[in-house]
Amino acid sequence: MIDKIKEYIAEVEDFKAKSKEEIEAFRIKFSGKKGLINDFFAEFKNIANDQKKEFGQAINALKNAAEQKVKELKDEIESQEEEKGIYGDLTRPGEPIEIGARHPISLVKNKIVDIFSRIGFNVSEGPEIEDDWHNFTALNLPEYHPARDMQDTFFIQTDPDILLRTHTSSVQVRYMENKKPPIRTISPGRVYRNEAISARSHCFFHQVEGLYIDKGVSFADLKQTLQYFTTEMFGKSKIRLRPSYFPFTEPSAEVDVYWGLETETDYRMTKGTGWLEIMGCGMVDPNVLKNCGIDPEEYSGFAFGMGIDRIALLQYGISDIRMLSENDLRFLEQFKSAF
Ligand code: PHE
Repeated sequence: MIDKIKEYIAEVEDFKAKSKEEIEAFRIKFSGKKGLINDFFAEFKNIANDQKKEFGQAINALKNAAEQKVKELKDEIESQEEEKGIYGDLTRPGEPIEIGARHPISLVKNKIVDIFSRIGFNVSEGPEIEDDWHNFTALNLPEYHPARDMQDTFFIQTDPDILLRTHTSSVQVRYMENKKPPIRTISPGRVYRNEAISARSHCFFHQVEGLYIDKGVSFADLKQTLQYFTTEMFGKSKIRLRPSYFPFTEPSAEVDVYWGLETETDYRMTKGTGWLEIMGCGMVDPNVLKNCGIDPEEYSGFAFGMGIDRIALLQYGISDIRMLSENDLRFLEQFKSAF
């Protein structure tokens, strides 16, 4: 009888299974209620006393071996199944990925950057918290200059020297201070002005300003560059320059683009004139060049500046500038297909 048990132990140890069903059959055969092990236990009372000890140890060994085997085989099959779950079907479709949308401000900014980079302009950036020199004084706006009132400034606490930049012309000053001509750079960024918030104006908005400095740069170069820009940006090449005033440029101009009068919206947007004002520009004032360490006898240049928010409103037919900063997903998700 003991030999029989030893044979079963050997059988248990050699046993291999490919499926859960095979393991279960094996378990029932040995450890089931009517299984072999219970049969042996039932025999126990018929065993001679002097053999009881050895017999008992043998059945226990068989019992442990059978239980251990079942556990091992189950673990093995389960871990195989887990791997299959992750890597099993390589042809199955992927999980859908939620697509985000770029913000309309970024869309317009990227387009402007792209258009100017094609004619050799790089991108420059600077701090939003500025000092008086870079935002005003270097730009030909000394203290008490009446033109400072054109830009309602937010000051930082009580220090009149530290402020939130009112335009990204401050970046151009920094750029000229640190680089030698020829300079061709555009400066996109957020700017702040203490204005009443309404559908048409906000206390912060975004600008792209451009600067071109080299030997012999003329007003004709400025006009040509702007015309290239409006053609690429809006598909409209008819522009006009109206004389204007900025402290940092001389002469200065406002740029209008001919939008047309084809639709009702054209009428409304252009107030019936067909013309739309899109930016300010001019030849960099010699004083500004001097302030930034560039010799105005040797170099000349032009600058221009436009509001990104206003252009975004135009391009996407948005009626209220506040929508651009409210982070309403119902609004933002509409730009998913734009690029
Ligand atoms: N800095 C001016 C503004 O914010 C725009 C401008 C830039 C005008 C460069 C002329 C030349 O209004």
